[in-house]
Amino acid sequence: MSLRFRLIALVTIVLMLSLAFGGVIACFNASRSVRTEMGSALLVGRQTIDNAVRALQGSLDPQRDLDGLVISFQANRHLRVSVTGGAEAAAVPVSDHSPFGEVPAWFVWLVGVAPVIDRVPIAIGGHPYGAVVIETDPHNEILEVWNQVSESVLVLALFCGQTILLIHLFIGRALRPLDRVSAAFEQIGQGDYRTRIADSLTPELRHLHDNFNRMAARLAEAAADNRRLNEQLLTLQEQERSEIARDLHDEVSPFLFAVNIDIANMSRLIKERRWAELPHHIQTIADAVGHMQRQVRTMLGRLRPIGLAEFGLTGAVGSMVEFWQRRHPEIEYRVSVSPTCESLGDLADTTIYRVVQEALSNAVRHGKPARIGVSIAPAPDHDPGHGGVIVEIIDDGQGKRESSGVGYGLLGMGERVRALGGHLTLSNRPGGGFAVTAVLPDSSPRGLQTVPLQGAAQ
Ligand SMILES: Nc1ncnc2c1ncn2[C@@H]1O[C@H](COP(=O)(O)OP(=O)(O)OP(=O)(O)O)[C@@H](O)[C@H]1O
Ligand SMILES: [Mg+2]
Repeated sequence: MSLRFRLIALVTIVLMLSLAFGGVIACFNASRSVRTEMGSALLVGRQTIDNAVRALQGSLDPQRDLDGLVISFQANRHLRVSVTGGAEAAAVPVSDHSPFGEVPAWFVWLVGVAPVIDRVPIAIGGHPYGAVVIETDPHNEILEVWNQVSESVLVLALFCGQTILLIHLFIGRALRPLDRVSAAFEQIGQGDYRTRIADSLTPELRHLHDNFNRMAARLAEAAADNRRLNEQLLTLQEQERSEIARDLHDEVSPFLFAVNIDIANMSRLIKERRWAELPHHIQTIADAVGHMQRQVRTMLGRLRPIGLAEFGLTGAVGSMVEFWQRRHPEIEYRVSVSPTCESLGDLADTTIYRVVQEALSNAVRHGKPARIGVSIAPAPDHDPGHGGVIVEIIDDGQGKRESSGVGYGLLGMGERVRALGGHLTLSNRPGGGFAVTAVLPDSSPRGLQTVPLQGAAQ
């Protein structure tokens, strides 16, 4: 059953009950008013007749006076008067129908006021002369009340009809925006996140309208992020694969080939018993294998940070800094890792490591700095259980130029941090230099302690 139908049915029932209740009260009032009116008409009529009967005592023609009395009551709307038992009975007004209109019988029955008959005996000179009969006629009064009640009921019925019609139209209009919202939800459900509710709804629904549009915008952003992330993932995967293929091709394949040749040469030399030349070939094989071992270790290091699991974040970040220090000893490196951030879980540790790795390499490659600071510390306003970690890499180099775009490095950092529910801030520092700040939500660090890096310039 539709909401509109239910509401209209409810309002109709309430209006009908009110109408019925009003009708009962109107009938009750009508009955009381007719009864009162009849009572007072009878009283006044009785007094008039008493006076007239008294006046008959000195009358020369009582019959004529009585006829005159009966005629004087013919225009009365509430009383019928007749004379019985006299020398000549006066005519009683006979019409059962009111000249003013008809009342339905059921209404007369509902009002329930029966005619009242009264008799005033006449005696002239001590002799009985019949009686004057007075009969109340409630018909006209009931007609008057009926006219009033039926007018009121008609007005009320018109009011009910109009109210129901207005509710029908209003609810139709009020619910129309919900149809648009429902259609919009359907489109969202089909994956069309560009859907927006354009026109503003009623004030009550404006909140829904705003929230729907915000939700659609967030979904569109999330879908775009997902697409971009997938593309990046594929690109990075391809890049990584081609790098591994290139390394295998350039750094491992030739040496395997060389080892193969050396072994063939050695077997030939053994057959020819040229023992003196063997050590040279053994040495070249050992060199080639050593080279291949180093290459494989480098490749593995790129695929998974070396030492992160074994030595923790401090050790892994330390050896990363040492790596750059060997290549750029002119730069001063300061590293500070809070012991409470030492082990935050595999994913968080790797994320922090990768952020530091990329930011450090960017600082050295692009910034030409004199100093680089790395800090991994608990967020100052953390609450236990939902603590945060702040990772900061700050250099005092030339800063990021406006014109320089964003490469895979900065993008990858942002994606990694956001994947953990954190956020990344990149900014040029006022005095020169660049700052990378990542805030990660998972951990419950307890304090900060500066760890001097062994071998690094302090
Ligand atoms: N510390 C920094 N100082 C100065 N410029 C920086 C710094 N870090 C980043 N940039 C600028 O931001 C650009 C984008 O950096 P991003 O790491 O995304 O790419 P990239 O380092 O150029 O290449 P890659 O994809 O190999 O990381 C850099 O090209 C550089 O111009
Ligand atoms: Mg980079």
